Amino acid sequence: MSADWILPRPDDFHVHLRQGEDLPAYAMEAARRFARVLVMPNLVPPVSEAAGLGDYRDRIRLAAPGLEPLMAFKLLPSVSPEDLLALARAGAVAGKVYPEGVTTNSENGISDLRELEPLMASIAKTNLVVCCHGEKPGVFSMEREEAFLEEFSEMACRHGDVRFVLEHVSTAAAVRAVTELGPNVAATITLHHLEITLDDVVGGMLKPHLFCKPIAKRPQDRQALREAAFSANPKFFFGSDSAPHRKDRKECAAGCAGVYSMPCALEALAQVFDDAGQRDKLPDFVAGFGADFYRLPRNPGTVRLVREDWKVPEIVDGVVPYKAGEALRWKVI
Ligand code: NCD
Ligand code: ZN
Repeated sequence: MSADWILPRPDDFHVHLRQGEDLPAYAMEAARRFARVLVMPNLVPPVSEAAGLGDYRDRIRLAAPGLEPLMAFKLLPSVSPEDLLALARAGAVAGKVYPEGVTTNSENGISDLRELEPLMASIAKTNLVVCCHGEKPGVFSMEREEAFLEEFSEMACRHGDVRFVLEHVSTAAAVRAVTELGPNVAATITLHHLEITLDDVVGGMLKPHLFCKPIAKRPQDRQALREAAFSANPKFFFGSDSAPHRKDRKECAAGCAGVYSMPCALEALAQVFDDAGQRDKLPDFVAGFGADFYRLPRNPGTVRLVREDWKVPEIVDGVVPYKAGEALRWKVI
């Protein structure tokens, strides 16, 4: 087998690039690996109207030339049909639904997907995708995702003319639901949910850098996610949910949720597929199915991974990355 692994230039359909002085470094880290990233809007204040979306995209492009930011806005029930059209015209590709209080900066979120019902006809007239953080507020945290599936499935069935992505699926139940729903429904899978379970977070010593939403679940859930990623089913594609929080915001009495996987995202993902004997499934998972679902052209060009041992740094731009200090054997050129 060749020492190189040539992949089509990949996309990451769920990243957090943050704002202010932190943004340039996080955007550059993404640009080293991905051609396009779908940028989540949970800033303060959120990206929720056309002008703000355009400004944010400009800042990302300035910070990381060569990275194409695909923009998402926070889909609030207060968004009007006119706002939606303006956002679509401004180049938004997705509206992101955050249920109330379930994750970082999700205050003023919705408590039930049906609150968006009045907007669905307008969304159907655009090419916008509805991305859902699939957790039901108020439910016990291990069951929040499963509890969200009923209203999600109802909505997706009622609106077959709208495309929905269930973000960062973390349970076998979500994999099953997405598989069974129509072709208007897909899901992103993160790197870390392919690798860890709740035991890695709290089963021994507490590992705050593996704490994220939705929390990692049971071994059988991880197994279902791995099978979905390796299934060549076009409904499942990569979204890292790389979510940097500075070290002191994670190592404290009330730590933020989010795993900063970008500094090893493509390299570690390659290793997961390689170790599982599934190398042939990686190109579509990370460079094909997502683009197809979003009705974007697949990227021209390739990226080269070489077989070279390296260690993920202990800290990157003030953040402890996923797999800090661990050895990996694929390196991105
Ligand atoms: C994300 C963040 O920090 O912005 N956190 C996380 O744990 N995944 C938000 C999100 O995607 O839920
Ligand atoms: Zn996220």
